[in-house]
Amino acid sequence: MSDSTRHAVVTGGSSGIGLAVVDLLLGRGAEVTVLDTQPIPDRPGSPRGAGLRAFSVDVTDETAVRGALDTATEQAGRPPSLLVTSHGVRGGFVPALELDLPAYRRVLDVHVTGTLVAARSLVRCMEQAPGGPPTGGSIVTVSSTTAYGGWVNQADYGVAKAAVRQLTQNLAVEWASRGIRVNSVAPGHTLTPMVQEMIDQGYDVSATEARTPLGRLCTPEEMAAAIVFLLMDATFSTGVCMPVDGGWTAVGK
Ligand SMILES: NC(=O)c1ccc[n+]([C@@H]2O[C@H](COP(=O)([O-])OP(=O)(O)OC[C@H]3O[C@@H](n4cnc5c(N)ncnc54)[C@H](O)[C@@H]3O)[C@@H](O)[C@H]2O)c1
Repeated sequence: MSDSTRHAVVTGGSSGIGLAVVDLLLGRGAEVTVLDTQPIPDRPGSPRGAGLRAFSVDVTDETAVRGALDTATEQAGRPPSLLVTSHGVRGGFVPALELDLPAYRRVLDVHVTGTLVAARSLVRCMEQAPGGPPTGGSIVTVSSTTAYGGWVNQADYGVAKAAVRQLTQNLAVEWASRGIRVNSVAPGHTLTPMVQEMIDQGYDVSATEARTPLGRLCTPEEMAAAIVFLLMDATFSTGVCMPVDGGWTAVGK
């Protein structure tokens, strides 16, 4: 199937990694539907046009997600068969003893429930297509290097991202017989608004850069390239969680 006949959904597509994925997919000629709680910013020079639509949706609200995908299917004239789940919120960066439980539940809900809701809404939408489900279904979720091993002050975000990685493998195994691939990326620090906010609040990235073999942060465009590779090009990969971290997880000490 050529890229220009594909319809992709990107959660969290209004910012950072998700926005870079949107630009890359539009550049490859795909129709793109964004689900996000905030609008897509206007940026000069980025490919925008008839192939892009956006819905203000919280990914934890299954009824709203399904409704948006049904409307997008109608508007695009075909159901989506590709999904990137790049929505996300920061954790509290506090010790486990100090975690506020409602905030803890929200971090898990957005990352884990939101990923499940988006993924199964896509599959249901595909399976209700009048001509039968489109072929070549593919999903890429976004985990994190914090999903590997124990990290101080990450009992919320790190646990959520480990669950996203596990969920990816479960869905990959369940949906392989439907011809749907499900993979994940585990980003290292990527210079997006989420990380910029941390830097603005005093987070020093120099230690991260020093520990990263490639010696720098990732750009959203580099992360998007890895995601779109898994989404569209790696047609015999499923259940994979690919670190995109400048070598962070490869370091043996
Ligand atoms: N930037 C990094 O260094 C890094 C590292 C590892 C993993 N990640 C993950 O990558 C993904 C993208 O992060 P980013 O850095 O681009 O962040 P970002 O803040 O720039 O973008 C996240 C987007 O998700 C949207 N969002 C948040 N909650 C939502 C909800 N409930 N429903 C719908 N949309 C929602 C936000 O509005 C925002 O547009 C996240 O899952 C994040 O956890 C980022």
